[in-house]
Amino acid sequence: MSMSSPQLALLLGVVSCALFVLYKSRSRVSSESKSQSSKAKAAESSSTNTKPNEREWGEWTPVNFTYPSFDPSTLDPLDMKPVPYRPFRWGQYHVTMGIRDMPWAEWIELDNQFLSYHYIRRHRILTRGKNVLNILPDRPGIVKSADRSAVELAHELSAYLSTRYPKSFTVTRDSSSGAIQSVTIVPAGATYQLPPPLISEKMKEGSLEKGELRPVSEAEAEEAMKIAALLVQDDLALMVEGTDGRYYFQGGAICVPGFWRMRDKIGLPLDEIHLRGHVPQYQEKLHNSMERYFKRMPVEKPIIRNNYFVQLVQPFDRRRPNDFGTPDSIPPETSYDDLVDPEELAWSNTTNGNEDKFTHGKPIHPDIPPVIAPENLRFRSERQTLRRLPLTGAIVFTIRTYLTPLVQLGQEPGIPARMASAVRSWPEGVSRYKGRELYEEILLNYLDECAEKQRLAGGEGLERNPGKGYPY
Ligand code: HEM
Repeated sequence: MSMSSPQLALLLGVVSCALFVLYKSRSRVSSESKSQSSKAKAAESSSTNTKPNEREWGEWTPVNFTYPSFDPSTLDPLDMKPVPYRPFRWGQYHVTMGIRDMPWAEWIELDNQFLSYHYIRRHRILTRGKNVLNILPDRPGIVKSADRSAVELAHELSAYLSTRYPKSFTVTRDSSSGAIQSVTIVPAGATYQLPPPLISEKMKEGSLEKGELRPVSEAEAEEAMKIAALLVQDDLALMVEGTDGRYYFQGGAICVPGFWRMRDKIGLPLDEIHLRGHVPQYQEKLHNSMERYFKRMPVEKPIIRNNYFVQLVQPFDRRRPNDFGTPDSIPPETSYDDLVDPEELAWSNTTNGNEDKFTHGKPIHPDIPPVIAPENLRFRSERQTLRRLPLTGAIVFTIRTYLTPLVQLGQEPGIPARMASAVRSWPEGVSRYKGRELYEEILLNYLDECAEKQRLAGGEGLERNPGKGYPY
């Protein structure tokens, strides 16, 4: 029996509808059963495993990953000016994750302030101990220790820095395995012996696939974390996946956070860290995408984000004269914090009061009332990176802080007008979080004056200068 064209078209339509319904119902069943299963799907967990990798939450199988090759920096860190990040935009302010891909060569940025950061960070570790450098042990049933990740991180940083800045960082290696044994910061004249790597060559060939890494003692983990902290200008947080799939702040070195304290956040999962800090619009705009991002983050896709704040410091005439010579010769006691760190990189004392009395979200009581004037305002900006370590699966969060006098920003073409526009567009919650009430009048008047001077000198349009592209 032959069919007419309309009958054929109808039959094909019915068959394809039936197939589509069948397919949808199957894929729904399979995705429901997957989401109910305790297995986590890590998307593309390594460069060699491009297939999704089924694993239990909190379990990680080491992956073979070679850090992609990159060119050494053409300049030495001590000859480089700090990168002038100006991560604010014209117009409406939107709370988003604000992340972008990180070029592998740029994991860690160093510059001519390296030595002063190094002295401040060392002073903080000496005077504040576990309050600024801590590795939590295993918490059975919840999350594993970050002990192995600390050792992995120290090795990764030593390898990276000696390749990127070969004149400033040198390493010695084991002659048979090639593993790094010691790292030297040439300009600081400091050499550190690294704890042995997590896998020996023998294990590398034999049991890497089974995920066996050597045990690490508490002392080794702390030593590794200390070395990592002193090699860079960044603060470092190790986020370990728990049995519930959340990421826990299990260790790190948070030496110069300025506005929050490691002791208030260590051990917490990512969402609690942000919720307790009253991060504006966290629940509505950030929570879901961040949780998803962390669970799925592949080893080979590191990212960067930038942020900014405004901070006050003491006027020059209120500062104690430093007659100790070099920062190295200042006694290691907290009563000398201001001499080691007069610009308040480590803790925003003038803005937030005494670090030991600080309670987030509570009214601020600076010990001495601040003098709010343009010359005492600092632009504080962080460059943060995230990457997953291949052997332990922990996610390393680096936080590099740049402190710039406001009067310097005031001279940069197009910056005062763009910054004034950004500050005016902060939503209510963001303004509260960034403490705008304290400094807004002085800040905005000053930025407007600078913008007006630039407009008169440079003509119409300068004030809408977009910069060379976000985040500059
Ligand atoms: C993609 C990853 C992340 C995003 C999008 C994010 C987002 C944010 C945002 C929007 C803020 C408010 C200040 C700002 O504008 O930066 C903030 C603050 C903060 N974040 Fe994150 N964050 C991320 C990862 C992390 C990680 C891994 C840690 C681990 C320690 C962390 C710890 C903090 C802390 C301690 C604060 C300050 C909270 C306070 O004021 O008490 N963040 N984060």
